[in-house]
Amino acid sequence: MPLALFVVLLLLTACGGAHLPQSTLTPASDFSADLFGLFKTVFWWAVAVFIVVEALLLIALARFRARPGAAAPKPVHGHTVLEIGWTLAPALILVFIAVPTMRTIFATAGHAPEGALRVEVIGHQWWWEYRYPTLNISASNELHIPVQTPIQLEMTSADVIHSFWVPRLGGKRDLIQGRTNRIAWRVDSTGEYWGQCAEFCGASHANMRLRVVVQSDSVFQRWVDQQRTAPATPAKGSAAEAGQQVYRRSPCIACHTIAGLSQGKVGPDLSHLGSRATIAGALFPNTTEMLRRWIMNAPALKPGALMTPQNLSPQDLDAVVAYLQSLK
Ligand code: CUA
Repeated sequence: MPLALFVVLLLLTACGGAHLPQSTLTPASDFSADLFGLFKTVFWWAVAVFIVVEALLLIALARFRARPGAAAPKPVHGHTVLEIGWTLAPALILVFIAVPTMRTIFATAGHAPEGALRVEVIGHQWWWEYRYPTLNISASNELHIPVQTPIQLEMTSADVIHSFWVPRLGGKRDLIQGRTNRIAWRVDSTGEYWGQCAEFCGASHANMRLRVVVQSDSVFQRWVDQQRTAPATPAKGSAAEAGQQVYRRSPCIACHTIAGLSQGKVGPDLSHLGSRATIAGALFPNTTEMLRRWIMNAPALKPGALMTPQNLSPQDLDAVVAYLQSLK
């Protein structure tokens, strides 16, 4: 029994702490702070109810237990004050929980103030697309936003239902085809926040991750400028130039966009792939080794991935990887 208690306590200590990238208990936006406040309200009411109920139970057990030689207890029938009390008290507690709940529901309903930065979030099996209609840019899997700025996320899906969830910032909110759901938030501090799809959406639902990169205004503006600029043309005779030729004659061009080269809309836009930290729905680090393995056999790394295995010679593979890495 002490061992079981120890294990339970050990497991519970794993539920909090700032070191966890996906904890709702370390809120970092106005949205998640509202949710956390409500959580604490309900939690402390539950603690109070637990203490009162358990105390009454223990008192009853001690005072009214059967004792040898004692007379049979006298049954009690009807007690107006008690009955009114145990009807009113829970009703009042429910009111104290319901009012903050309603307030939080309206506060997190997704309406950003006028002038918020709009980002359209589109769910795909199994990656995220972000469009910034007012900035005229788009991105995949890594959502860049400026710190302490109201953001309006407008979410929809290209296929099945997904759910956008970044535990430290807020959500979840479903992405449904033909409908727009909204999240509004303002993130407190710069940094990187991890999230993932929270609605079962097929074979690689668990691999549909996302990163939110929150930047200072100047760093964000640099990123926007970079996304607006077409990728540099590879130098003559470089590996990247050979890779561009391989890309040009590969089936990749049917599904991917690279500014000035191809217009595919099935997979993520690769125009600035070299500037991302991750690939494949924020699942793997964007390294030479992972890019090679991903291009050769994506479905082996991510079940159900639509990208078919590419049968490239080792030289062609090296060249394509060099080209993709040059796309900053
Ligand atoms: Cu998308 Cu689960």
